[in-house]
Amino acid sequence: MLHERFQAVDKAQLARRFGAAARHYDAHARFQQEVGQALLAQLPQGQWGDALDLGCGTGFFLPALASRCQQLHGLDLAPGMLAQAARRGSGARLLCGDAEALPLADASLDLVFSSLALQWCECPQQAFAELHRVLRPGGRVLFSTLLDGSLWQLAQAWQAVDGKPHINRFLGQTRLREALEKSGFETPIIEVRPWHLGYGQLAELLRDLKGIGASQVNEGGQEGLGGRARLVRLTQAYERFRRGDGLLEASYRVALVQLQRA
Ligand SMILES: C[S@@+](CC[C@H](N)C(=O)[O-])C[C@H]1O[C@@H](n2cnc3c(N)ncnc32)[C@H](O)[C@@H]1O
Repeated sequence: MLHERFQAVDKAQLARRFGAAARHYDAHARFQQEVGQALLAQLPQGQWGDALDLGCGTGFFLPALASRCQQLHGLDLAPGMLAQAARRGSGARLLCGDAEALPLADASLDLVFSSLALQWCECPQQAFAELHRVLRPGGRVLFSTLLDGSLWQLAQAWQAVDGKPHINRFLGQTRLREALEKSGFETPIIEVRPWHLGYGQLAELLRDLKGIGASQVNEGGQEGLGGRARLVRLTQAYERFRRGDGLLEASYRVALVQLQRA
């Protein structure tokens, strides 16, 4: 099925970047762990049958999910992430694959959990159509993703340096809802939560982004941060986002989404 492309993503490069970050990922993933826990808290009580953690990364959520279902798959684009996930000993079956072309049979799952992975897709609607295809009737999806406005301070600071935002594009809430509805999910529940992180220095935020492998994937991403002089200018430009408590603010807009296949 062909759907509108939201962004161009070099998937081989994305997999390499996340794979290379895998060993250090957890140490830089405070935000990702908080979001995933918030998503997990929305999982309805009870035991599930066949489940998938889509974009499972290092498998941080696999043990908790495994305790709630009969059979669990963990799927990720990056073999390096899966190698790390294998060390959790969760019993999940690990699969290398793409959310936009899931290597899973139609109507084979009761539950899909996916935290902060789907924003990396080229065509979100294609990924949502895949979720719909692999779910059994009545099956549920819980996913979190980033919405536009995420990392707006970093985008503004970069704009002040060279007129370009240097951050990934994120879907807006309306477009997210439309893509879900067009994929067959008639009544998506979308909760939008702002998340404000505080950093002593900009370098710490940049280290976290690099540490989880989350560099810019789309237009302009290949330019990187540039030389030291640009970094100094960026650091100065970011200073205006220092809060009353002395920390620099980095904000995300997170969508926590619940879906059910009719
Ligand atoms: C920010 S990490 C989140 C990992 C984990 N869910 C967590 O919350 O810690 C994003 C993960 O999504 C994976 N990913 C990105 N695009 C993907 C795709 N198209 N299909 C499957 N996995 C993908 C990356 O390899 C990476 O492991």
